[in-house]
Amino acid sequence: MNLRQISPGILYCGVNDRSTTLFEGLWPLPYGVSYNSYLVKGNSANALIDTVEIGHSRDFLNSLRDMAGIGHIDYLVINHMEPDHSGSIPLLLDMFPTIKIVGNMKTIQMIRGFYHINDDSHFIEIKDGDTLSLGDRTLQFVMTPMVHWPETMMTYCPEEKTLFSGDAFGTFGALNGGLIDDEMECGMYIEEMYRYYSNIVGKYGLFVTKAIAKTSSLPISYICSTHGPVWHGRIQEIVDIVKRLAAWEPEPGVTIVYGSMYGNTADVADLFATELNRLGIRNIKVHNATVENLSHIISDAFRYEGLIVGAPTYSNEVFPPVQTFLNAMRTREIKNKVTAAFGNHGWAPLATKAIASALEQLGCAFAGSVAMRQSMDAQTASEVKDVAKRFASMLTKA
Ligand code: FEO
Repeated sequence: MNLRQISPGILYCGVNDRSTTLFEGLWPLPYGVSYNSYLVKGNSANALIDTVEIGHSRDFLNSLRDMAGIGHIDYLVINHMEPDHSGSIPLLLDMFPTIKIVGNMKTIQMIRGFYHINDDSHFIEIKDGDTLSLGDRTLQFVMTPMVHWPETMMTYCPEEKTLFSGDAFGTFGALNGGLIDDEMECGMYIEEMYRYYSNIVGKYGLFVTKAIAKTSSLPISYICSTHGPVWHGRIQEIVDIVKRLAAWEPEPGVTIVYGSMYGNTADVADLFATELNRLGIRNIKVHNATVENLSHIISDAFRYEGLIVGAPTYSNEVFPPVQTFLNAMRTREIKNKVTAAFGNHGWAPLATKAIASALEQLGCAFAGSVAMRQSMDAQTASEVKDVAKRFASMLTKA
């Protein structure tokens, strides 16, 4: 049971998930995750905003039973249809058979598709800017498509100055007792926000930017996202982080990603790191793609200005873990990076050329490449130093 008051008209009724190991079957959850649901209380009606993932509905339903004193839940607003938030819709209908489900045209199509709820009398279809009165509280709907699915929207309650933002401003990490940012240590949630954004929403920066612009004139005291803390004291900081990420505006630092079978390609990665450090760069993250989870590598690559990628040639292709990383960069249309490539080969320098080509296709600035043959020698070391020097001179962030 997790019923908590955020403000006089808003209750939290979300749940923690500390048992799922991979979010979306892909992304590790070392600190768990919360699925956030909220109740807005009016003097003539009550509305629930989103539900929770079906595997964690027990706590959710217990919270809703605790609301018996509040009265009936009249509306269920669905800001986002991904099943971590929509999964308990059928249970809500069982519990409150007359509840009206409020969503846009795409939401309702998805509810029919996911949950086979076809009776039109269950639905209230709304459009951008529409409002729903709960008496002394109002819900105003703001369409924000592709943050993170096409049906995604936000809901604003002007009387409480609260924005229910869907996945926007969300982060990994279960809620460990606290709910509102002011009442907890937020370091882990903010760090995990980079990983959440880059892994889940990263492809949709233009849409996130539009959504932030569209809601920027609203007076906001609370941002209630679908995952993580309710933002109150740190709203400006959080909005600034997401704004920067959405605009692909990098932070100072360099990510070096490599794969290596016998340590020779790793030698090149280490020499790049050493040279960049010698040239004054202090924030350098080196990732071995063979042993590290892609999720953390994507996060750093997204966050920092410099990106250097290297791999051996393997069966005339790029060593597979590094190719997977390059594919993730292409999928997310990563931008605004200063890049360089390196490779190692026994007899055919395919990997170096393929990595350089992949980085250039992203439209990123390219400092050069180093194609090592078999193992480090004086010639390769000299080439690494030359490329590192050019790379460092191209970085614009101190
Ligand atoms: Fe947390 Fe896109 O769902």
